[in-house]
Amino acid sequence: MPRIALIPGDGVGPEVLGEAARILRVLDQTSSLRLEMDEWPLSADRYLETGIAITDDEFSRLEGEYQAILLGALGDPRVPGNEHARDILLGLRFRLDLYVNYRPCRVLLPAHSPLRAPEGGKMDLHIFRENTEGIYAGMGGTLRAGTRDEVAIEEDVNTWKGVDRIVRAAFRFAEIRGLTRITLVDKANAMTHAGGLWRRVFTEVAEAYPDLETEAMYVDAMAMDLIRRPDHHRVVVTSNLFGDILSDLAAALMGGIGLAPSANLHPGRHALFEPVHGSAPDIAGEGVANPMGAIFCVSLLLDHLGEEKLARHLEATIQDALREGVVTPDLGGTSDTVGVGRWIADRLAGNLAEDGPHA
Ligand code: IPM
Ligand code: MG
Repeated sequence: MPRIALIPGDGVGPEVLGEAARILRVLDQTSSLRLEMDEWPLSADRYLETGIAITDDEFSRLEGEYQAILLGALGDPRVPGNEHARDILLGLRFRLDLYVNYRPCRVLLPAHSPLRAPEGGKMDLHIFRENTEGIYAGMGGTLRAGTRDEVAIEEDVNTWKGVDRIVRAAFRFAEIRGLTRITLVDKANAMTHAGGLWRRVFTEVAEAYPDLETEAMYVDAMAMDLIRRPDHHRVVVTSNLFGDILSDLAAALMGGIGLAPSANLHPGRHALFEPVHGSAPDIAGEGVANPMGAIFCVSLLLDHLGEEKLARHLEATIQDALREGVVTPDLGGTSDTVGVGRWIADRLAGNLAEDGPHA
């Protein structure tokens, strides 16, 4: 029986994760899937009380005892440097070696996208962000801090192994999902060392996929292109930092960051799912946060567990809620967090019951 660790975290995290957990309970009770869930109180509250963000033992248990982790959000104004969020989130990404950060961005309801839908086209973008190195690796340092002679160095780390495995994961995904175009995004015209490595690996891996159309684009051109023709791109593979930036841009295009899910994966080994939005302290506790990003994470979790049919069921149900206007104020609706979560849970339970116990 798959064991799932739930980390509600800070701000709106507990509210949206509560709705994701509601969906997991429906699946446990109505489908053939059985799940076990444990809640983990890793948060700013705990950090402020104890000075501990996450311990070595907790890393080991999360790695060894669970098939997946579902995280709400981390970040709290009482911890201005967000040390606990970095220790927990980046800590899990690095320690569990979750080298794929997969961020799908699809326009589910064209009315929500700030861009006019291109004639007959639809954004269906799958970002593969490298998740364990790049400029996030923490290599660097500061000299003469606090003086006018201060030097701050942040190194961009790109290893052959790191680049090769994320590029391969992106190609494999494109092939499995029948997506026809894959684009490497870099800044090879200015960052020539990293760009050279990424382009060589990309070209080499591409040889095994002669049916896939391949492209390479500079990140500045891609930022422009995503606005100009969002429906053109399918799979994008890129570095940690560029993936971070482009995935916020793409989330806004899909209709708002409240809808966007992400999966941090070490394929075949472990996975952590989190909505792309943060802890939104300005609306925390008001019950109006959009739970759809977190619920979308459950569908990515279902894919990870090999339950593709249930995953598609859940996505279709989220789409029903959007179509019927059962949405929170960020999407122009009047429903609250619990209202949206309950509506999706009830509709899903109904659909699964109709399909029989083996849906
Ligand atoms: C994200 C976030 C994180 C990142 C922050 C909170 C460190 O922006 O998951 O995209 O930059 O990876
Ligand atoms: Mg980000």
